[in-house]
Amino acid sequence: MSNRVQIFDTTLRDGEQVPGSQLTTEEKIVVASQLEKLGVDIIEAGFPVSSPGDFRSVVEISKAVREPVICALSRAVQGDIDAAADALQYARRKRIHTGIGSSDIHIEHKFATTREKILERAIAATRYAKSKVEDVEFYCEDAGRADLVFLAQLVEAVIGAGATVVNIPDTTGYCLPEEYGGKIKYIFENVSNIHKATISIHCHNDLGLATANSLAGINAGARQVEVTINGIGERAGNTSLEEVVMALKVHSELGLETGINTPYIFPTSQLVSKMMRMQVQANKAIVGRNAFAHSSGIHQDGHLKNNLNYEIMNPQDVGVDKSDIVLTARSGRHALKHRLELLGFSFDKTALDELYTRFLEVADLKKEVNDADLVDLARTAIPV
Ligand code: KIV
Ligand code: ZN
Repeated sequence: MSNRVQIFDTTLRDGEQVPGSQLTTEEKIVVASQLEKLGVDIIEAGFPVSSPGDFRSVVEISKAVREPVICALSRAVQGDIDAAADALQYARRKRIHTGIGSSDIHIEHKFATTREKILERAIAATRYAKSKVEDVEFYCEDAGRADLVFLAQLVEAVIGAGATVVNIPDTTGYCLPEEYGGKIKYIFENVSNIHKATISIHCHNDLGLATANSLAGINAGARQVEVTINGIGERAGNTSLEEVVMALKVHSELGLETGINTPYIFPTSQLVSKMMRMQVQANKAIVGRNAFAHSSGIHQDGHLKNNLNYEIMNPQDVGVDKSDIVLTARSGRHALKHRLELLGFSFDKTALDELYTRFLEVADLKKEVNDADLVDLARTAIPV
């Protein structure tokens, strides 16, 4: 089994479904070009049948971006597949992503049909998509809640019909990591033609488990993971690209790699946040404002002695200039001395002790003591 995990970015499709985050075609081209620099393997550029704007975006992204595979979404209906194939006409490397519900909940309450009819529609859609493009991905929607035996039957049927990739989405973010990893393992053990396709994972974050579930899926053998920048997406979002990529990089003992140029992670996060008008929460792993900020005295002291004490990755590895020592009322003398030295001031122990007392008075009044406050404080401590 390959040790390379393919990164399938769906920021411009599943991510863009967030209310208020819609982008124009021109904006989508900017994001897609950045994703290309970031090194993603596949860009899901849109759902062409859904609107003329989405169709146009897939056409223009296909012209502008040449390295990653460009993927277009479709339901398991001919009109959708036709629109996807037409929109992908200029793509150098193209993929149609088609699929249908696989859980009994979806089969009964969304499609009002039977498992047998779902199998027939899945096979027909895969064959039809295959008549249009070589690379066909099939999604088994709501696989997280699907019956395992039926799911394996469906996966076997669509691989038999020509699917090159089969996506096992936890559409509702329902699964626990062992459960989701167990599903992927079951598929590997019970689908006879599994070696002919790549298994892809696509997790939603309704229980905050999208990254954990994705890693469990990879551990069980999946070699494509579907992600978005900053984890944006429907409801609580999708798996974050930056979390999965850095988890695999930090845990190099797993022996798995991606093609991501990790120093592009932070700039890409900022770009997507600004263009999609979605603020990144301060404590967001990898890309949040506080991800490399140390604020308590004990942590600051430990960090200043050796950054390995409180950091498991270098900020530069993800495109962040440097770690931050935030001076607050919880900071200690060591951090204050360090910051003052960076600003050009040095004091003996007695002067520093005195300054530290005054620093705490200011810090108790303010959430954060900035450099201008420190310069004011330091000036008053210089003998005239
Ligand atoms: O969450 C989901 O099931 C999806 C599919 C359309 C792939 O986004
Ligand atoms: Zn999804």
